Amino acid sequence: MFFQTKNLDNKKVFDIVSNDFRYAKALDSFGIDFYNNYDFTIKEICKEKGLSSGSIHGYRIAMDESFDLDLNTLKSSPINLVIEYLKHNHSYFIKNKLPYIRNLISNLSVDKTQYNFFKDLKFIFPHFYEDFVEHILEEEKYIFTYIQKLFELDGNHKNHAKMFFEMKKISLKDIAKEHLEEDSEMEGIRGLTKNYSLKQVTNLHLKVIFQELKAFDAELDIHSKIENEILFPRAIELQDKVSNQIRNISFLN
Ligand SMILES: [Fe+2]
Ligand SMILES: [Fe+2]
Repeated sequence: MFFQTKNLDNKKVFDIVSNDFRYAKALDSFGIDFYNNYDFTIKEICKEKGLSSGSIHGYRIAMDESFDLDLNTLKSSPINLVIEYLKHNHSYFIKNKLPYIRNLISNLSVDKTQYNFFKDLKFIFPHFYEDFVEHILEEEKYIFTYIQKLFELDGNHKNHAKMFFEMKKISLKDIAKEHLEEDSEMEGIRGLTKNYSLKQVTNLHLKVIFQELKAFDAELDIHSKIENEILFPRAIELQDKVSNQIRNISFLN
């Protein structure tokens, strides 16, 4: 349940974040670590930082206004727009979401006896991060670039010969199959956190980490769904179309 924002100014950071974990991110955007300011009210923090509390609430409200395109809109959009959308997701994950979660994790120190899994989470997260960045770079550098070339070539007879050889080197069907069968990079973290269960967690900082990880996992799921169900099937269709065009040209010549 959300507080009415007008009543928030005199609430303590601890209570606000306990009620709505996304306030931690809103505060972070203004350079405020919620975990170092539990006992301060929003009003006190804003006074100290020279901020207006309206900007913090405004940021928090803006987080709910999603700019996401729904699956049906993407299904009927040109493939280059689908790629731009996926790239936008990638950059948001890498530049915004993941650095925030990484900082939350590295700044938490908890009682080892109470949360013995946390040591593993601290260890595993940078590895997950590295694998994830590698996955994204590979998609952008090779797969998206190749699909974009197919898109530009469709119906345009120039450079068909060059593309003919490039098509021999890459198997979109294999890439799509591999991508579909691949476990989510979040699999290990899901196991470690017992599916982000808050049952045994009393520490607020850790609760925020769990909730952020859960939200990211859900976003990543939608992202992969767009790649598996929209991007790859349409790219394979496009590749068949372009390869028929090349065959027809060579036949006519
Ligand atoms: Fe991706
Ligand atoms: Fe992917």
